[in-house]
Amino acid sequence: MKTVLIVGASRGIGWEFARQYRQSGWRVLATARDEASLGALAGLGAEVFSVDVNDVLKIASLQTRAATCIALHPGWVRTEMGGPRAPLAVEHGVAAMREVLVQAAGAQASFHGRFRQYDGTALDW
Ligand SMILES: NC(=O)c1ccc[n+]([C@@H]2O[C@H](COP(=O)([O-])OP(=O)(O)OC[C@H]3O[C@@H](n4cnc5c(N)ncnc54)[C@H](OP(=O)(O)O)[C@@H]3O)[C@@H](O)[C@H]2O)c1
Repeated sequence: MKTVLIVGASRGIGWEFARQYRQSGWRVLATARDEASLGALAGLGAEVFSVDVNDVLKIASLQTRAATCIALHPGWVRTEMGGPRAPLAVEHGVAAMREVLVQAAGAQASFHGRFRQYDGTALDW
């Protein structure tokens, strides 16, 4: 079973990643900061961890090996942060980013260390 770690999954883009990956049958490790969100993520079938990204020691314990690291611009997305006027639905943006991640896993050399838009378009740093 494939595994994904989603840091900041209580709402918005992180929540949608957790929802879609669970729907696709993945093992989802999801973090949030409050008990209600941890419970909601557990309800999706995720394994949950209480993490604040300002807690450096906890983040260090989540390190992975042999990872392909890419930065993704999610577009302007209708979330709490993006607001109601954003043109992109979170379901569509996350589905597109998942497709980019599939491509990245199969072509590490052309994705590692790069900056891409949600639809895969290369962006300058
Ligand atoms: N939406 C857009 O149009 C857009 C555009 C460009 C970039 N982005 C970036 O995409 C990311 C997600 O955006 P979003 O639209 O999904 O935002 P959102 O709906 O506001 O959600 C933000 C998420 O980050 C979590 N978070 C905030 N501070 C945290 C901390 N110190 N430790 C752990 N988790 C923390 C929140 O958790 P709590 O519930 O605990 O606060 C929440 O799960 C952000 O980095 C944002 O800058 C978004």
